[in-house]
Amino acid sequence: MRVLVTGGAGFVGANLVSYLIDHGHEVRILDDLSAGSRPEWWGNRSKRPQVVEGHVEDAASARRATRGMDAVVHLAAKPGVADSVAHPEQDFRSNVLGTFTVLDGARRAGVRTFVFASSGAVLAGATPPLREDMAPAPQSPYGASKLYGEGLVAASDVFGITGVSLRFANVYGPLSAHKGSVIAQFLKRVLAGRPLLIYGTGRQTRDFLFVEDVCTAVERALGAKRKGVYHLGTGVETSVNELVRAVQKVSGTKGQVDRQPARPADAARSFVDLSAARRALKWSPRVDLEEGLRRTLEWMRSSAGRGP
Ligand SMILES: NC(=O)c1ccc[n+]([C@@H]2O[C@H](COP(=O)([O-])OP(=O)(O)OC[C@H]3O[C@@H](n4cnc5c(N)ncnc54)[C@H](O)[C@@H]3O)[C@@H](O)[C@H]2O)c1
Repeated sequence: MRVLVTGGAGFVGANLVSYLIDHGHEVRILDDLSAGSRPEWWGNRSKRPQVVEGHVEDAASARRATRGMDAVVHLAAKPGVADSVAHPEQDFRSNVLGTFTVLDGARRAGVRTFVFASSGAVLAGATPPLREDMAPAPQSPYGASKLYGEGLVAASDVFGITGVSLRFANVYGPLSAHKGSVIAQFLKRVLAGRPLLIYGTGRQTRDFLFVEDVCTAVERALGAKRKGVYHLGTGVETSVNELVRAVQKVSGTKGQVDRQPARPADAARSFVDLSAARRALKWSPRVDLEEGLRRTLEWMRSSAGRGP
């Protein structure tokens, strides 16, 4: 397939681009390179993606990037809940207007499949396991922007586009050095010999999903015959305290822990019910937390944090 990956220079995008190229797809990227670094990490790969540098909310860039594509994976976004509260207008531009503009480009270009990176933030405050039949209730501009995207993507069958929204759990893995997420932070601190930082009791839980498992799910979604919304995760509920122990085991350190007051918007518990994704996409995650942490740490050690 000829696949446009927006946000292809970011964490999930950079992993996905390699994955799709290795699986025989032709890949183009649309990214404004506002997060991470320039994609030098593609290094000596024989097949490289074509890079269109531009904003997703810019109609000319979106049209140029979607032209000739069979499918779009729309990842480009300002990803933080806290950032969206601090800068809602930026969230609107990139995440709402950006999603509209890329989908509009896809419609004009006759693209058949559109895969959208959504988030559990559309269900903020819901009691887990998170399921697709729960009523959405975003509590941040970020969550609201993802809900808008899901709606638009679901409605795009009126244009002959099959739209699939994937609500990623907490994704981690290589090429994440620029991320502020808990696993990226913990591993960077372990390597720097600094204490791990826990906000609150550490009993808050998350569902940690290795990025390679996201890539396999996206590839399945590219072959979807009908539209849908699916939670992607492992279904395993892991507390931050358990994560600390796993990081200590994998890194062979008995690192110190610093405790800070809980952050106000932090969900107490989160994990997903992945039965719909299993059924409809024939997808299951394969990498458990320990293996995923080991592979991420290995990348961080070998690259010293290079890459997007
Ligand atoms: N990483 C996670 O745990 C997670 C969880 C849920 C959902 N998501 C979603 O997955 C997607 C990818 O997340 P990520 O972790 O790779 O984030 P990231 O910040 O590493 O990547 C985002 C990419 O989008 C690009 N970008 C941002 N604004 C842009 C704009 N206006 N125009 C063009 N490019 C722009 C950035 O340069 C970057 O390369 C996002 O949509 C995010 O909301 C991620």
